[in-house]
Amino acid sequence: MAELDNDKPFSQACENNQEPIFNILKDAFADKTSILEVGSGTGQHAVYMAPRMTHLQWQTSDLSENANGINRWINDEQAVNVLRPLELDIAKHWPNPDLVSNFDGLYSANTCHIMPWETVQSFLAGMESMQEGSRVAIYGPFKYGGEYTSESNERFDHWLKAQEAHRGIRDFEAVAEMANKSGLELLDDHKMPANNQLLIWQKR
Ligand SMILES: C[S@@+](CC[C@H](N)C(=O)[O-])C[C@H]1O[C@@H](n2cnc3c(N)ncnc32)[C@H](O)[C@@H]1O
Repeated sequence: MAELDNDKPFSQACENNQEPIFNILKDAFADKTSILEVGSGTGQHAVYMAPRMTHLQWQTSDLSENANGINRWINDEQAVNVLRPLELDIAKHWPNPDLVSNFDGLYSANTCHIMPWETVQSFLAGMESMQEGSRVAIYGPFKYGGEYTSESNERFDHWLKAQEAHRGIRDFEAVAEMANKSGLELLDDHKMPANNQLLIWQKR
């Protein structure tokens, strides 16, 4: 048996949140066949989720610098329904109607507070090309009515902005408005552990 690659990139947050996220995605994506994950990061979510949803294929993607780590997780887990990462920079390669029309699901975790707001807007606008009935699942922290949902999220937001001025926790209402303009109907807003949300939309 091949030895496991123990030095690959690792996210403790993924280890903590993957099961609660899966418990929702298994229903949200129950009749979906092909999921595009944007900003796969280490690839841990992909190799956790996909083998538990063998009815679908899970396409990973991220900036090119993360491809190696994602491939290392796919190699170790031998996840047959996880596809090798696409180089997908939302700031450069999006909107991308030819790409998104191949998928009936889109998943992205912890990306909206990392990408600049203009890129988040473009990301949401590009979902207009999804097929009717497609599902979109976006995980991460959000503000509601301009308020943080916790003191720790407020501290996190200040920390994000100190790292890069364009980063920051987004307003749920602004995200929801953009999603609505793209023809996405909000089905659920799940409150998740550690003051995160999992937003589920369906394309009209
Ligand atoms: C905080 S990490 C989250 C990674 C993973 N989804 C998770 O939950 O652990 C943010 C991810 O967004 C990706 N990202 C940042 N800007 C991006 C862009 N313009 N297009 C696509 N992905 C981007 C980063 O490379 C990184 O993998």
